Amino acid sequence: MPGPSQHRRDQIEMHRSVADMYRGRARHRFAAEFQQERNDLLISLAPASAEGAALDLGCGTGITLNHLATRFERVIGLDISKEMLRGYEGGHRAGARVALLLADMTALPIAPASIDVILCRSALHHLDDEAAALAEMRRTLKPGGFLVIGEPANDNPLFRLARFCARRLPSFGKIHTIDRGYSRQQLFGLLRQAGLRVCREVRYGFIGYPLCDNPELVPVLKWLPAPLAAFAGRALRTLDRLLARVPLIRGLSWYVMLQARRAEDEEPARA
Ligand SMILES: C[S@@+](CC[C@H](N)C(=O)[O-])C[C@H]1O[C@@H](n2cnc3c(N)ncnc32)[C@H](O)[C@@H]1O
Repeated sequence: MPGPSQHRRDQIEMHRSVADMYRGRARHRFAAEFQQERNDLLISLAPASAEGAALDLGCGTGITLNHLATRFERVIGLDISKEMLRGYEGGHRAGARVALLLADMTALPIAPASIDVILCRSALHHLDDEAAALAEMRRTLKPGGFLVIGEPANDNPLFRLARFCARRLPSFGKIHTIDRGYSRQQLFGLLRQAGLRVCREVRYGFIGYPLCDNPELVPVLKWLPAPLAAFAGRALRTLDRLLARVPLIRGLSWYVMLQARRAEDEEPARA
């Protein structure tokens, strides 16, 4: 069997160096509240299934695993980096089972049609072969199951420019070996080619997102006194929610969340 590609070795090496930073990301209250809101939204796209299995691909330090474990009996967090997986601190609901799996998401060691919900938060753009990963997601999803993807969105020219500049900073360069974010058209196209159909789209994050997501990479709010930073974070998130309601602005967000299903599955009934 050939070993991992150079790109994957780079990903493993790079995430080895940022694992501690990821683990400490939600240490500040404003950042913890931001991550909570973002995960609430993301996981609300995953219909709960008390006896079901959820798989988090590229789970990193496991920021969504405990949240998934409130809705699913079995949760698997899978990542290619053992240092990122080691950052998971446990603490999930008693009664749920959470397992960590060191593997490559382009070749899942998981049985076909065995997973109710697959979540992939901010990991797809790290891959050199997204088509292979999406084909694996489709293969392992049960008929009628859901895929939930969260990705940085690249539709806003101003944010594209900001990313282009930020990625040239030494701190950002550590994170991104590939300079990629998907436009809406690219992301929908990738899913379609994999035989997946987008059912719902949530746009997220305008001003609060870059300031709250990773205080080490964008160190602004973390220098304010904690109560003031928490207040600013809440105000910015409220503003972001309002902006996401404006039709002409909505599509220009930093982040996009998609709920998808196998193309041949029925359209789900809305709650
Ligand atoms: C930006 S981090 C996101 C981590 C986590 N989902 C989160 O939102 O905090 C991207 C993750 O994808 C993982 N990754 C990159 N390539 C991968 C691959 N081929 N298979 C599995 N995981 C991979 C990295 O190790 C890293 O943990």
